Amino acid sequence: MSTGSAKMRAPVEVAAPARGPVLVRSAQGEDCERICALVNEHARNGLTLPRTIENVRACIGEFVVGERGGEIVSCGALNVISPSLGEIRSIACDPRAAGTGAGRAVVSFLIDLARAVELDELVLLTRIPGFFARFGFLEIRAEQAPRVFLDEAIAGRGRTISGRTIMYLPLLREV
Ligand SMILES: CC(C)(COP(=O)(O)OP(=O)(O)OC[C@H]1O[C@@H](n2cnc3c(N)ncnc32)[C@H](O)[C@@H]1OP(=O)(O)O)[C@@H](O)C(=O)NCCC(=O)NCCS
Repeated sequence: MSTGSAKMRAPVEVAAPARGPVLVRSAQGEDCERICALVNEHARNGLTLPRTIENVRACIGEFVVGERGGEIVSCGALNVISPSLGEIRSIACDPRAAGTGAGRAVVSFLIDLARAVELDELVLLTRIPGFFARFGFLEIRAEQAPRVFLDEAIAGRGRTISGRTIMYLPLLREV
């Protein structure tokens, strides 16, 4: 098992129809401001939780970015909560690139990354369950959610579930 760092995978090009491919790569220090802007753009209407630049800098190892034509168009993070459990966070796409596969590319990358670091399951909190259902995430009730997620990742960090759907994805391994 590795850490929560997203740096252990090489960039992967994911086909994004309409406006060309999106290259997903691990985020670097110089991406912090752009990530912060993307996440906070959607925090205004409550779709993402706001992040300070200091927080993004502190968590940069968890982030990946999607680039099209050299410009960052989307981002997302994989937070490793325990050796088996990860949380997908801060998925955000440039509104100008909405509907062109930039969000899909980042989520697909993070799911592959979670498998690569041998996590068994992923969770997330969202106001748009329909988007994540496309990747196989299932809606669950709080009492079905992993205890460590509720206690440490939510309550322990002063976050609330209120108004959001908890989703769960088991990462089945080939034997
Ligand atoms: C959600 C978000 C990342 C999607 O990014 P995107 O690049 O616009 O989406 P994509 O083009 O990759 O769409 C992939 C698929 O999801 C669908 N989809 C996109 N947004 C959706 C939504 N809000 N609800 C349900 N389905 C959605 C698309 O129609 C597409 O379907 P297809 O595979 O049948 O073509 C983007 O709209 C965004 O930044 N939203 C605000 C922030 C947010 O809500 N983040 C989630 C926090 S948990």
